[in-house]
Amino acid sequence: MAPPIAAYLAVFFALTTAVYAAASSSGYHNHTVGGASGWLFNSTTSTAATNYSSWASTQTFNLGDFLIFKTNTNQTVVQTYNETSYLSCNADDFDNGTFVYDSGSSSFSQALTISVPLTVVGRNYFFSDAADGLQCHRGLAFEINVNRGQGLPPSLNQPPPPPYIEPPGPDAAEQSPPSTVTLAPTGGASPLRVNALVAVCGFAAEILILLR
Ligand SMILES: *[C@@H]1O[C@H](CO)[C@@H](O)[C@H](O)[C@H]1NC(C)=O
Ligand SMILES: *[C@@H]1O[C@H](CO)[C@@H](O)[C@H](O)[C@H]1NC(C)=O
Ligand SMILES: *[C@@H]1O[C@H](CO)[C@@H](O)[C@H](O)[C@H]1NC(C)=O
Ligand SMILES: *[C@@H]1O[C@H](CO)[C@@H](O)[C@H](O)[C@H]1NC(C)=O
Ligand SMILES: *[C@@H]1O[C@H](CO)[C@@H](O)[C@H](O)[C@H]1NC(C)=O
Ligand SMILES: *[C@@H]1O[C@H](CO)[C@@H](O)[C@H](O)[C@H]1NC(C)=O
Repeated sequence: MAPPIAAYLAVFFALTTAVYAAASSSGYHNHTVGGASGWLFNSTTSTAATNYSSWASTQTFNLGDFLIFKTNTNQTVVQTYNETSYLSCNADDFDNGTFVYDSGSSSFSQALTISVPLTVVGRNYFFSDAADGLQCHRGLAFEINVNRGQGLPPSLNQPPPPPYIEPPGPDAAEQSPPSTVTLAPTGGASPLRVNALVAVCGFAAEILILLR
């Protein structure tokens, strides 16, 4: 007969595993844009390193996720909620829904990682405005749909994300119209879920112990 300590160890491992599984399945995700290809444009061949639309179609994006752009100073990252700006490949007409992430460095080819949090539900557009829009026109651009998921984590909820009012249009009745993120306190979902799992596991473990 195994000593009781073995049973407790088994319980401990069961709990640890369950909590881990719950945390990672309900957590926020970081998406490395383009996967191993990174966010790059070859100025010799005038081609983007991969098909970013295809890459995006393999991912699910939620509030609080980050896009990680592994790039260098030859490219920029422009984030916008304005389809007109996206289609124009131009970030010069600044409205307050367009953000340009660049290093501020004037030298070429310096490695750079840019992390962009997803803070607005709905259509988000990304492109590089370097080389006067050529990179974007030649494929360094993609759009994604951001789901609410479990909402923004507190770390991204303050200060509040920039307001953006979607113009009422024919697709106003579509499935994911909320574009202004005004969140009630969030983050309750994952701890609750973890607690529930712990309770279930604890119960199962006790039965195991009693059965011995
Ligand atoms: C995701 O990226 C952000 C920003 O770089 C970072 O703070 C966070 O730790 C990353 N999370 C994971 C799970 O790698
Ligand atoms: C661009 O493409 C050319 C031709 O395939 C290749 O020789 C060159 O190394 C590439 N440049 C970069 C920076 O990847
Ligand atoms: C990228 O892939 C999409 C399908 O995911 C396709 O419609 C599009 O034409 C491709 N773009 C290029 C430049 O090949
Ligand atoms: C989108 O950008 C265009 C210029 O690129 C601007 O005229 C328009 O007002 C912007 N729309 C919104 C909703 O900000
Ligand atoms: C940002 O856009 C919103 C909605 O279009 C507008 O109400 C607000 O005044 C704008 N803020 C600035 C600083 O332009
Ligand atoms: C960056 O751009 C410069 C100037 O166009 C070019 O000479 C260099 O090869 C590029 N570097 C990379 C890594 O693409």
